[in-house]
Order: sequence, then structure tokens, then C-alpha cells
Amino acid sequence: MSQAAMPVHLDKTGALYLSCPHDSMATAITIQDVWTRHREDLRRVEEQMTGFLSTRVPLIGQVGGYILQGGGKRLRPLLVILSARLCGHDGPAALLLGSVVEFIHTASLLHDDVVDEASVRRGRAVAHTIWGNPASILVGDYLYSKALLLAVGLKNQRVMDTLAEATTTMSEGEVMELLRVADLGLSEEDYFKIVDAKTAALISASCRLGAILGSAGGEQEEALAAFGRKIGLAFQLADDVLDYMADSEKFGKALGKDIMEGKVTLPLIHLVAHSSPEEAAAVKALFDDPDSAQGRLSSVGTRMRRHGSMDYVLEKARRSVAEAKEALAVFPPSETREELGAVAEYVIGREW
Ligand code: FPP
Ligand code: MG
Repeated sequence: MSQAAMPVHLDKTGALYLSCPHDSMATAITIQDVWTRHREDLRRVEEQMTGFLSTRVPLIGQVGGYILQGGGKRLRPLLVILSARLCGHDGPAALLLGSVVEFIHTASLLHDDVVDEASVRRGRAVAHTIWGNPASILVGDYLYSKALLLAVGLKNQRVMDTLAEATTTMSEGEVMELLRVADLGLSEEDYFKIVDAKTAALISASCRLGAILGSAGGEQEEALAAFGRKIGLAFQLADDVLDYMADSEKFGKALGKDIMEGKVTLPLIHLVAHSSPEEAAAVKALFDDPDSAQGRLSSVGTRMRRHGSMDYVLEKARRSVAEAKEALAVFPPSETREELGAVAEYVIGREW
């Protein structure tokens, strides 16, 4: 079956399956193989992070430990480790930078959940509903600052440039998104700018960091950065579809959260663009009255299915994953390249 003709699978619960098990292009290495092969490195990252949380201020360990122990697949540390290996490096600096990017990611989630007034993440109450907004924000500040302090210890200016640029871009993305809350005039182009900044920047940086550790040349470093950026985009596209139709237990977040938060994402942009004026007005009404939006979520989902909005977005996600894998063609074939391919497929094959 050609990649272009690959169907999108939705099961009864609405969980999505994008990877086709019989696809001849699919990589032979599965994501489970990747987790298994790198379990020891990831365990060491975990151990390091726990150590970095133990400070003279117990609240930091409590809040930071709570969100970190809540789960998370450690995608960003895995990408640092695999990218470094692809470029011939497998020293402790990759593990340290794995902790650094996961701390930055965790800090951004603590902040984002306050901004979004979210209630559930990774299947559990968000930290600010337990410890309050100030503690959540300040522990986020700690994780972010600690991450930079740890990275400074490597005395590598390129590493610092990469981290500083990624975090600046992420913050820009979040502010851009804030400015467009409930704005149904958001264009696809602007949506992609937001996603590129808020999500793809750190995933791209994780891959670039691996390349820097491996002293890869410009072409290989740029290829890994492009790979990360494209899978980051695919990750967010899948997330934005799942928000409307996942099995919420597996997803670990409340369904329909985006509409409740006034977040205009690509499935909705597509739906509005293909709706009659009456239908578009009904969608707009959801933003005007977010409290009733949850109850009307299934009608939005039905309309999205009717207009092919999910398929449209998932096709873009799938395309982005294919482009990501193509970007790695500058590297000779290797097991590590295959593993990165499996990670790329995983970001759209996940069903949570
Ligand atoms: C989740 O998006 C949030 C992000 C992808 C990035 C958050 C970034 C910041 C708060 C700014 C940078 C902060 C630091 C500390 C560097 P989402 O709300 O669409 O996804 P969700 O449904 O998982 O909440
Ligand atoms: Mg959020």
C-alpha cells in the first residue's frame, strides 16, 4: 500500500491509528523495541532528574516530583540520546541534556496548565489544583532555571544557544496563542506558526543537541533539527485531533479541552472553512458559552467527521512524519536511524 493511500483508522472509542501494520514502508523496529533498548539510559535520566529535585526547599521536590512521576514518555530525552548516537556520541552529556530538556518541558507544562486553567494532565489532577498557581509557576521557574544551570556546566556555547533559542521561541508561541484565544479568524498559516513555536521548537532542539554533542557537520545537524521540527508538528496535530475524539482515559486529559480553553486548532479551522454560515455560527457559539461546549462536543465531532476535518489534519500529520524520515536520508542507514524512524511513527500512532 502506498503511503499516500494509507487510511486513517478510528476505532469504536474514537482512538486513532495512523500507522498501517502492513505498510511496507513502515520501519521494522517498533517503538517498544526502542524503549526496551534504551531503558537503562532512560532509567539513568529518571534517576538524575529525581536527584536534581532534591533541594533545601521540599516543596520543589513535591511539586516537581508529582508532575514528573505522573508519567510522560520521555520523548525529548530519548530524542537527545538517539540523535547523539546517530552522530557517534554516547557519553553522559546526552543523558544530562536529556534531563535538561525534560525539565524545560515539565516547566512549560506547569506554566501552560495555569495559563489554560486545565484540570487534568496525564490522568491526574494538575499541580495548580493541589498546590495553587503561585507554587506551580514558581516550581516551573525552578525547573527551567535548574535546567539552564545544568546545561551551563557543559561549557558548550552551541548547547546554550540552542536551549535559549528554543525556550524563547516556545514562549513566543504561547503568547501568540494567547492573543488568538477564541479567534475563529485564525488562519492555517498562523496556526502552524503557533504550533511550530510552542511545540516543535523544543523537540527540534532536543535532536539538534544530540547532533551538537556528536559534533555533526552542518548538514547533519540541520537534518536532525528538521526531523525534530517535523515530528513536533505531527505530534501537536495528532494531539489536536485527539482532543476531540480520544479515549480520554488513555489521552490523560479532558476531551474538548481546546474549545473550553478557547483554543482554535486545525480540525476546527478546517470545519469552519467548510461549513455553512449557520454551522459556523453554531461553532462560534461554543466559544461564547464554553460551559455548554462540553455537552455539545459530540455534535462538533460529528460535523468534523462529516466534513473530513480529522482526515485532513491526520493526513498533514502523516505527511510531516514522512518528511521527517526523509530528512534523515543524509545519514547512512543504521539501527539508530531506524529507531528514530520508529519514534517518528509513534508520535502519530499513539492512541492516548
Ligand atoms: C502545551 O500546549 C504547552 C506547550 C507545548 C508549550 C508551553 C510553553 C510555555 C508555557 C512557554 C515556555 C515556558 C518555559 C518554562 C520555557 P497545549 O496547551 O496545546 O497542550 P496540552 O493540551 O497538553 O496542555
Ligand atoms: Mg495546555
